[in-house]
Amino acid sequence: MTLDNTSSFAPIEMPAVQTRLTQAEEQVLLRVLREGKTLAAGPEMEAFEKEWTAFTSCADSMAVCNGSAALELSAILSGLESGSEVIIPAHTFVSTAVPFARTGASVRWADIDPETRLVTAGTIEPLLSPRTKVIVVVHLYGLTVDMDPIMALAGRHGALVVEDCAQAPGARYKGRRVGSIGDFGCFSFHTHKNITTLGEGGMLSVRDKKHGEQARRLRWMGNWPFPGPRERYWLPAMGDLVEPIPGRWPHNFCMGEPNCAVGRLLIKRIDRINSQRQRQAQRFMHPFLDFGEISFQTVPEGCQHVYHLMSARYDGWACGKTRDDLIQLLHEKYNLKCIVQYWPLHRTELFSRHGFGLADVPETDRFFDNMISFPWWSDMPEDLIDDMAERVRLAIDELRTG
Ligand SMILES: Cc1ncc(COP(=O)(O)O)c(C=O)c1O
Repeated sequence: MTLDNTSSFAPIEMPAVQTRLTQAEEQVLLRVLREGKTLAAGPEMEAFEKEWTAFTSCADSMAVCNGSAALELSAILSGLESGSEVIIPAHTFVSTAVPFARTGASVRWADIDPETRLVTAGTIEPLLSPRTKVIVVVHLYGLTVDMDPIMALAGRHGALVVEDCAQAPGARYKGRRVGSIGDFGCFSFHTHKNITTLGEGGMLSVRDKKHGEQARRLRWMGNWPFPGPRERYWLPAMGDLVEPIPGRWPHNFCMGEPNCAVGRLLIKRIDRINSQRQRQAQRFMHPFLDFGEISFQTVPEGCQHVYHLMSARYDGWACGKTRDDLIQLLHEKYNLKCIVQYWPLHRTELFSRHGFGLADVPETDRFFDNMISFPWWSDMPEDLIDDMAERVRLAIDELRTG
């Protein structure tokens, strides 16, 4: 069968940008550019970090060039090395795992809960060993992981906890913002995220202030001010070059000043963006209450969903149909372009070739093989949401009888 589209429906597909800047925000950006203050590590970055620290109630925050860099810093600061083990969800975006795999530690893949589609203390516990140094959790699709039992487990085993918050900035777990619960919180401000700082950007939040200073030393190639005053300001050089932490080379993970200026503006309206996405999610999901084949993530008590993505599982086995039948029909007849996320990492060439191709994660496999992700962005018009839901209902009905 061909995938050519001959539908009479108007196309619906994921846009390039999730959240657009307002005109007032564009003016602030213009001010930064006109003042010419674009030298990295300037006043916008300093202010953005302070405001993010206050927003998340963590001990310290470091602005970085993207979410992958934040994860990379947390992997380095965790002190992982060959011989140690790190537990990571098999169901996540690749950036969650590469920084940890690169350290030489062994990756143990954790399964997901079939209802929330997130890791839990129950899926992590069987993987713990005396060599476990780090547990990585991901607030995937925008839903917060049930953190308390995981923090208790980590505490008993002396493991550090890294929260990958790329998809859930501003989400709360039992009243606390994500990124302030574990030892490290890693945020992404990529174009596809709920808030974006002009395409790329990220933040590392830490619980221990010591990690804040270490991250800053790692972030800009070991450039560091000399301690105290110098008799002649130009000697021995403009700045010192330090070993950021024992035995480690530094990186350049700096975030630009215009990006930080935009980040500061978006902190002010992130809660509004997230609430709006919650409202549009309720509107989209409601028409499927009587459609047993489609199930969305369950949101447990105390957890919050900020709907970075609109993912669902399609169980069409009762009428002999698969997720691929549904995506194909939606694409060809209804001009609705859905996608599949996230390839279980142990099943990919990248991780198999590096020796991480084995995992016992049946729920991850089941979800991935049946999942469907709908086009989704901030400020989706209500009539478009209704239209999309109607097309999906029609397609599911058709698969029941066809
Ligand atoms: C779960 C998750 N972790 C990490 C990242 C990496 O963020 P970035 O693209 O900013 O490097 C992303 C998104 O891209 C993500 O979705």
